[in-house]
Amino acid sequence: MYKRIAGTKDILPDEVVLWQQIEQTIRQVFSLYNYKEIRPPVIEDAALFNRSLGESAEIVQKQMFLIHNKEDTYALRPEGTASVVRSYIENNLDKTNGFLKLYYVGPMFRFERPQKGRLRQFHHIGCEVIGSLDPDLDVEVISLANTLLTRFGISGYKIKINSLGCQKDKAKFNTNLQSALKDKINALCEDCQVRYQKNPLRILDCKNEECQKIVRGLDIYETYLCPECKDHFAKVREGLDVLKVNYEVVPYLVRGLDYYTGTVFEISHPDLGAQDALGAGGRYNNLVKELGGPDLGAIGFAFGVERLLLCMQNAAVKTQKSNLVYIISLGQTARKETIKLLDLLRKNDIIADIDYENKSLKAAMRKANDLGAKFVLIVGDDELKKGVVMLKDMQKGEQKEVNFSDLLKELKC
Ligand code: HAM
Repeated sequence: MYKRIAGTKDILPDEVVLWQQIEQTIRQVFSLYNYKEIRPPVIEDAALFNRSLGESAEIVQKQMFLIHNKEDTYALRPEGTASVVRSYIENNLDKTNGFLKLYYVGPMFRFERPQKGRLRQFHHIGCEVIGSLDPDLDVEVISLANTLLTRFGISGYKIKINSLGCQKDKAKFNTNLQSALKDKINALCEDCQVRYQKNPLRILDCKNEECQKIVRGLDIYETYLCPECKDHFAKVREGLDVLKVNYEVVPYLVRGLDYYTGTVFEISHPDLGAQDALGAGGRYNNLVKELGGPDLGAIGFAFGVERLLLCMQNAAVKTQKSNLVYIISLGQTARKETIKLLDLLRKNDIIADIDYENKSLKAAMRKANDLGAKFVLIVGDDELKKGVVMLKDMQKGEQKEVNFSDLLKELKC
């Protein structure tokens, strides 16, 4: 028997209902905020991610699903931002659309060690807004993430924000961090000793408790921000206060991808355990230019759908009532008529199905019940002779004979 690959999941029909509810909600909310959907391919030139996320990013170093052919190396996308920016540039959307608010939903792939909330194929709900440096846009994006969580019925999460500053500030942040850690290198974990040389900011992201204790005791935060970046960050906080979005400034929040500049944020939830990030995002004001496009500010975020679902298990989830009409035919002559009836119902936008397993009446009724049918139509030789069907209302538990000619009216009311 074949088995699914570790870290992948079958989303079975019962669970798909929840996914569809999530997708419906996000489409409503994104359109309220005037975002348009984009659907880039799931496979891209691997170099796109090396360049965007940074050669030293954990995703690039260890987690990319690569496909090698004679000349090229492709990657199954580990995230959506780089693809959206590539698409924006390649399709000249700066010329045709300029400022653009985009969202996407789809699978992402990372070769990680699977555990609760950490998969090798998982799904992102994300958005990217390209073409503005306005701090009010940061406010919109963070409050949009907040609105989505509220609509999903999730509470108890924490929004953490920070600013990395512009490219120069980030360089200063790195240098300040290096000098603050100079005497503590030996106390850092092995990975962080390498990070100290290559990309010190990543030390702030380390999950090792000892490293976390060391960096949280440092006092170098915000000292690296230039006046413009300080002002931008203050405006973002003011805007969030105006909209009453709860947040916490976390000075050691840096995010593990190279493209971030300015505002960064992460949303965590205590129900998630070790992998507690529900979603994350931030500005990436240099990426469009770095990938060959114009010099445009941009910001976005992504939620992990599987992690949203873990939190929604505790939230009230609406169970969808089924409107199914289930037909049970008794005998061959009745079968022919009920196949026509089935077609008629569907042509009239009534969700309908029939017992294809030739079950006994009792077993077919049980099946209708399991399927959550709203109505059952029973048609046998007697009913055919009289030109009626037996209509059973499964919710009320009542049944009555209905003329064929009145059936549509009866089912639609
Ligand atoms: P990220 O933090 O790498 O950011 O991923 C966003 C979210 O995806 C995480 O907070 C988490 O919920 C979920 N996630 C990540 N890896 C896994 C995994 N292996 N299994 C399950 N869920 C996972 C980004 O990808 C950025 N592109 C976000 C962004 C958009 N920044 C700007 N625009």
